Amino acid sequence: MRPKVLITREVFDEVLQYLSQYFEVTSNQSDAPFDPGTLVAKLSDKQGALITLSDKIDAALLSQCPNLKAVCNIAVGYNNINLDACTKARVMATNTPGVLDDTTGDFTWALILATARRLTEAEAYLRNGQWDGWKLKQFLGLDVHHATLGIFGLGRIGQVVARRAIGFEMKVIYHDVRRAAPEIEQACRASFVSKEELLGQADIVTIHVPYSPATHHLIGKQELEKMKPSTILINASRGGIVDDSALIEALRKGSIAGAGLDVFENEPKLNPGFLELKNVVLAPHIASSSKATRFKMAMLAAQNMVAALTGKTPPNLLNPF
Ligand code: 8YV
Repeated sequence: MRPKVLITREVFDEVLQYLSQYFEVTSNQSDAPFDPGTLVAKLSDKQGALITLSDKIDAALLSQCPNLKAVCNIAVGYNNINLDACTKARVMATNTPGVLDDTTGDFTWALILATARRLTEAEAYLRNGQWDGWKLKQFLGLDVHHATLGIFGLGRIGQVVARRAIGFEMKVIYHDVRRAAPEIEQACRASFVSKEELLGQADIVTIHVPYSPATHHLIGKQELEKMKPSTILINASRGGIVDDSALIEALRKGSIAGAGLDVFENEPKLNPGFLELKNVVLAPHIASSSKATRFKMAMLAAQNMVAALTGKTPPNLLNPF
């Protein structure tokens, strides 16, 4: 009997074929996320689950899936998985680090430039037929070149974003739970500062930390009040790290100049306040979505699954075994 594996969302055919060589695969090619009850029911007889951030793996689910041995996230972030509960249930959990750093870093720059130069706002104006001619003071934006970039989290993705800033001749400052090694700081030309210094000095604040209870609302009312009125905030990390209601209030009042966001609290249900604002660039959690990278993410998750269910240590095992 081959192990049974559930793939909770649509994946590339090659990934399906690869997993089918080893396992009896059930896949949700219709791509609608399973509600929690359906997920438990579908997983109750499975050894493996290839999942995404919309699938919550917690103690309650694990208690009803006695055969489960591996949950493999198609994502680097794994706040949808309760790791302690997995360890207690002897379930291996894996993620997909490394393969999406450059692509997510690139998209962060798309958000920085679009927000600073008011690109989506200007495009909407043009598409609406409002453009009646060139004006000297039309859509005045923020210069990115030579500005100060403040990075929260100089991990893999934060470093990519910092290195891209060299081309824009920016001053790069960062804050993290611990200071990076000197060679990383040098390669990124980034200086370590306190959280307060970063908030007060940066023209562009960009967030690259994982979501956890410790980073919940890392950017809230108080932090937004410490930023300059000309500052823009970028978030391509996880919803919940920014307090969305506080951000909407700050954008409404003009206490910061703009925001570029790929992630939100309660995705995909966006706080409707965002839609009323012109000074925000919004994207539906697509920072890692290049064809090549999403393929690599799904394939890496599948490779983790094959290792986990064939007696090997998965390359990206998250919990102790
Ligand atoms: C994924 C992400 O697209 O990897 C992550 O943590 O946020 C994105 O790259 C998403 O999480 C899919 O599960």
